[in-house]
Parts: sequence; C-alpha cells; structure tokens
Amino acid sequence: MTKLAIVTGAGQGIGKGIAERLVKDGYAIAVADINSETATEVANKLRNKGYQAKAYYVDVANRNEVFALVKHAVADLGDLALYVNNAGIAFIDSFIDSDPKRVERLFDVNLKGTYWGIQAAAKQFKKQGKGGRIINAASLAGYEASALQSAYSVSKFGIRGLTQAAAKELAVDKITVNAYNPGIVRTKMRDAIDKKIAKIKHETITQQQANCLKEIALGREAKPSYVAEVVAWFASSGAGYVTGQSLQVDGGMRFY
Ligand SMILES: NC(=O)c1ccc[n+]([C@@H]2O[C@H](COP(=O)([O-])OP(=O)(O)OC[C@H]3O[C@@H](n4cnc5c(N)ncnc54)[C@H](O)[C@@H]3O)[C@@H](O)[C@H]2O)c1
Repeated sequence: MTKLAIVTGAGQGIGKGIAERLVKDGYAIAVADINSETATEVANKLRNKGYQAKAYYVDVANRNEVFALVKHAVADLGDLALYVNNAGIAFIDSFIDSDPKRVERLFDVNLKGTYWGIQAAAKQFKKQGKGGRIINAASLAGYEASALQSAYSVSKFGIRGLTQAAAKELAVDKITVNAYNPGIVRTKMRDAIDKKIAKIKHETITQQQANCLKEIALGREAKPSYVAEVVAWFASSGAGYVTGQSLQVDGGMRFY
C-alpha cells in the first residue's frame, strides 16, 4: 500500500534531498513548494526514475493552502504517513534595522507555516486512526541565536517549542513529532547567507566559508543528503519510541 509523505520546500535544497531519500523507503512524495516550477522539476525527475511523486503549489504561511495541500495529496496519492515541515526562509540583517515586513513574513513562513503544517497533518492522521510522523526543520540557531539572524533564530527556537508541545499532545494518537537541526548545508539559502555576511564583514565569500568550516569538528559542510538521512531515520519504524526531540545534524558544531 502506498504511504504518502508530504515534504514542504521540496523544490530545492534540503527538501529536495529529503524527497529523493524518502522515495527509496517506498514513500509516494507530495513535492510541495511555493515555486511550482522547481517542485514540478523534482517530481518529474522522481517519476522518471520510477518513483511516485507529484508537485503541489503551497505557500505554507497560508493555513487554507496547507490544509488544501493535505486534502489534495491524500486524494491523489493515498493515506498520509509522514509530513515534513521543511520550508523556511532566512534573511541577514541587524536586529534594529530589520525591515518589519521581512520580519513578519519570516514568522509567517517559518513559525506559522510549521504550526499550520502540524495542525493539518495531525487532523489527517487522527481521521485515518493509524498514527503518523511529523518532522520539522529547526536549526542550530534554534539553540543558540545567531547575530544578524534575530527573527530567524526566534522562529527556530519556536519550532523546537512547537515540536515539544505537539509531541506531548499528539502522542495519545500515536503521532510522533521531531525536528532536525542542520548546521551548514550547502544550498541556495546558505549561499545567500554567506554572500551577505561576507559583505557585512568586508570579507570574500571564500574567507567567510573558511571561518565557518573552523567551527565544524568534522571539517566539512553538509550536503542535503546528510540531513535527509536523519529525516529518513526519524520516519523509520526504528524511531517509533522517539518524540519531541531535535537532533543536531551539524558535523559537530554544537554539543548540547
Ligand atoms: N541550509 C542550511 O544551512 C540550513 C541550516 C539550518 C536550517 N535550515 C533549514 O532547512 C530548511 C531548508 O533550507 P534550505 O537550505 O534547503 O533552503 P532553500 O532556500 O535552499 O530551499 C527552501 C525551499 O523552500 C521553499 N519555500 C520558501 N518559502 C516557502 C513557502 N512560504 N511555502 C512553501 N515553500 C516555500 C523555497 O521555494 C525553496 O524551494 C529551512 O527551514 C531552513 O531554515 C537550513
């Protein structure tokens, strides 16, 4: 029987890596993204390899769209087994100069988007009556806030809070809720962050990236596939007794 995994922000980066990994465990993937073009590319590539996948447009900040995503994906691909709240945005700016519209949009996408995703997935799981898995994208910045990333850090602290609260409430319905905390993963988001920080510090991007590498015990950045492995584990039967947790996937940057 098909098991459906909805992955938000799956048009590129870590979300794409998660979609590419989960198909290997037999999931049909709803490749959900605000960018329909990239979502369609990812879904087409997976289908060309013989996997089940379909692209969906969603702005996770819009609660109605998130609920519609779950409804349509279930109608198209079968019962929901896993919902990955991966979509997120970031910007680099000083606390006092952060533009209010950007701050509000960031909270709407990262924090409220995850909230709506948990709600929509949990309601579907309850309807199906067989439990389910929810996995959220937090960050190292959700443990120790980053300078120049005040709103982002708060949103990721908040996602850890949502993960714990949802885990406590939903355990009775056999729904587990966990989070992954990537460190430095080479994606378009990270490219943009490095570029902006380098500019602020009057450094080259190479210097900025070398500074970051010094913080990683294993001495190398992550690929999206490294994070995807952890997501696949949280989704696996072996992780059935783990809930409310956030796991560092950072090559040894922070030790909590
Ligand atoms: N890359 C890193 O180093 C890193 C580190 C820590 C945490 N994270 C987190 O991992 C997640 C993925 O990051 P990434 O590096 O792959 O980012 P990315 O920018 O490369 O990709 C994010 C994807 O999300 C989509 N998206 C953005 N806003 C959306 C919305 N409102 N609705 C639906 N889709 C939307 C984008 O179109 C894009 O396809 C994010 O939550 C991010 O905060 C990333």
